[in-house]
Amino acid sequence: MQRTAIVTGAASGIGRGLAEGFAEAGYRVLGIDLQAVGEPVAGVEPVMLDVTDADAVARFGEGLESLDAVVNAAGVIRRMEEFDPEVFQRVVDINLNGVMRVCAACRPALARGGGAIVNIASMLSFFGGPLVPAYSASKGGIVTLTKSLAAAWAGEGIRVNALAPGWIATPLTQALQDDPARSRPILERTPMGRWGTPGDLVGPALFLTSPAAAFVTGVVLPVDGGYSSV
Ligand code: NAI
Repeated sequence: MQRTAIVTGAASGIGRGLAEGFAEAGYRVLGIDLQAVGEPVAGVEPVMLDVTDADAVARFGEGLESLDAVVNAAGVIRRMEEFDPEVFQRVVDINLNGVMRVCAACRPALARGGGAIVNIASMLSFFGGPLVPAYSASKGGIVTLTKSLAAAWAGEGIRVNALAPGWIATPLTQALQDDPARSRPILERTPMGRWGTPGDLVGPALFLTSPAAAFVTGVVLPVDGGYSSV
């Protein structure tokens, strides 16, 4: 039987790359995002959904039968603006509460399918970001949310892990990529000496949701070209 995966943030960047990767691996993919952007990805069924809309997310979950994988990649960053408490609240509501909403809504279908969750953390899960306090707080929260759900839902056969990408070339990091003064230190510190691509996340996500990772839960796997090792 064909496996089913949900990927949030599927219209752009990492989520788009992961949706494509799961489709190529043979999954039926439901790609959640605020809107469809760019060319449709073959094999990905777009679902217009705002992860901050609690009722809509819950309704979406009620319509699901059985799930093999849920990948939470929807996220935003608001550089320099996140010291405004309203912006802070909004960023956390998307990046952290949104993940919890999707996980909670998908839990019954994941339990029926013996499925696994992969949350997208960040290097800023491990250290602070002086320009992005809300982003960093939300990504720090992703780590302990991942571990907490892993422990809580293991008895239901649901595994919960996270990937912590290093610096990945997507629209979210476009400003950094375009500014040599900011991209140079990133590349100098990255032992592999390049920006990551959304495709770099596909293999690790497929592994964490596969039977090969049957005894792996609660881990946060850096996918960063060595950035966090030095
Ligand atoms: P992106 O900006 O290219 O894509 C994010 C997607 O999330 C967009 O399609 C956007 O429409 C969607 N989204 C935003 N708010 C939403 C909402 N309320 N409901 C549904 N969808 C919503 O960003 P990118 O780079 O692909 O980031 C994806 C994830 O990876 C984010 O969680 C980000 O924090 C994380 N990440 C990115 C890194 C990078 O270097 N690009 C590094 C580490 C983590």
